[in-house]
Amino acid sequence: MSDLHTRISPHCIEKVLKTALSQGWLREEDTAAIFYDLTFLKYRISQLVSAFPDTTLHGLAIKANPLLRIMKKVHSMAPNIGVETASIGEVNLALKTGHPAHHIVYDSPVKTHFELKYAIAAGVHINIDNLTELARIAHLVADQTTQSTFGIRINPQVGVGMILESSVAGEYSKFGVPMKSRRSELESAFYTYPWLTGVHLHVGSQGCSLQLLTDGIGVLYDFVIEVNKKREMKGFPPVSVFDIGGGLPVSYRHDQQAPSMEEYVSAIRNRAPNLLTKFRLITEFGRWVYTNAGWTVSRVEYVKHDPGINTAMIHVGADLFVRECLNPRDWRHEYSAFNPDGKLKTGIDAIPYNLAGPLCFSGDILAKKVNLPLVKEGDYLVIHDSGSYTFSMWSRYNSRQTPRIIGYLNDGKQFEILKERETLEELYNFWR
Ligand SMILES: Cc1ncc(COP(=O)(O)O)c(C=O)c1O
Repeated sequence: MSDLHTRISPHCIEKVLKTALSQGWLREEDTAAIFYDLTFLKYRISQLVSAFPDTTLHGLAIKANPLLRIMKKVHSMAPNIGVETASIGEVNLALKTGHPAHHIVYDSPVKTHFELKYAIAAGVHINIDNLTELARIAHLVADQTTQSTFGIRINPQVGVGMILESSVAGEYSKFGVPMKSRRSELESAFYTYPWLTGVHLHVGSQGCSLQLLTDGIGVLYDFVIEVNKKREMKGFPPVSVFDIGGGLPVSYRHDQQAPSMEEYVSAIRNRAPNLLTKFRLITEFGRWVYTNAGWTVSRVEYVKHDPGINTAMIHVGADLFVRECLNPRDWRHEYSAFNPDGKLKTGIDAIPYNLAGPLCFSGDILAKKVNLPLVKEGDYLVIHDSGSYTFSMWSRYNSRQTPRIIGYLNDGKQFEILKERETLEELYNFWR
């Protein structure tokens, strides 16, 4: 069985890869493929759902993994699974995959008039990014009846995590309304608009400690408690929707510990005692749900030997692993090598490997100086824990075909195609 609690081990992958190869799920043209362990994914969803009250809406971040077949599957796993969307395109994906509007959370820092009208007509929950957007919405709701509910994104300004580029709760952030310098405008917004019944924050993605995440929640919680006293005096409904965003980190390596969802919820309970019972919570997890459920496999096309370094030339690089190639210090995976039949290779070659992608720039290197067993042409290289922020960030540079994406259950007892490898014709049509 997969280790459902943490990560999928190389031995579990060996079993699945061998079966997939022997049954023809990886064909000659499938130079690379992405696999999702759907049993593992189901377990993650059940952990998420059981950690929070049943009234919580879990808006899974589409940006982490927009595969429609997966979205449909997770949607059916629990009645309170919705989606967090970062663009009108994602709102449309969510509506088309059957998510009811009230299970769709629309976040984006650049929503146009047209997009706001569309979202309000659809009746999705909208997290307003800034005070100008708030003024636009005030006009729209004055002459449009809607089922939409509205929150405002607040930057709690509690600091940055270990990865600067994915931290959004520092003193400055391009997202949301900063709590310290705009507190009075925020208060007056809540005392002006009775329909403004929600708050939203997102502290960052990966690299944020439980302390930082709950500090952010605490700042908004204290604020809402204050605001609700005055709203009650004015006869306004209370602020009752509290969107805590995503950002729970995961483990990418055996030496990297990640907190559990239960630990996070208990830290929230300590900091904001009534949050779980008195508010309608929204969560927006992406990485925590998908990362450890997915792995990528590439055939090793060539191995180059240079003094002191080998280079394994593989079929995915900065097209699938944008962050890893551009910011390798912060984004590192573990790798395993398998022979052409899918048998796990063991031992360590005396010379380390650079893992080079197929793209036409020298920075297209997934990882440098990786210790691996002896790797040969025709072997397979697996990039572990690559189920989120990989395919969703696919780059069209060099016009390579997107890989086949395969789901499996129970360690490979059942397989299914989640997305077919792109054909040359489809690729041609993209550029037309
Ligand atoms: C507003 C918002 N919500 C949720 C997420 C998902 O974060 P994660 O995948 O780390 O849970 C992000 C990611 O950056 C985000 O920007």
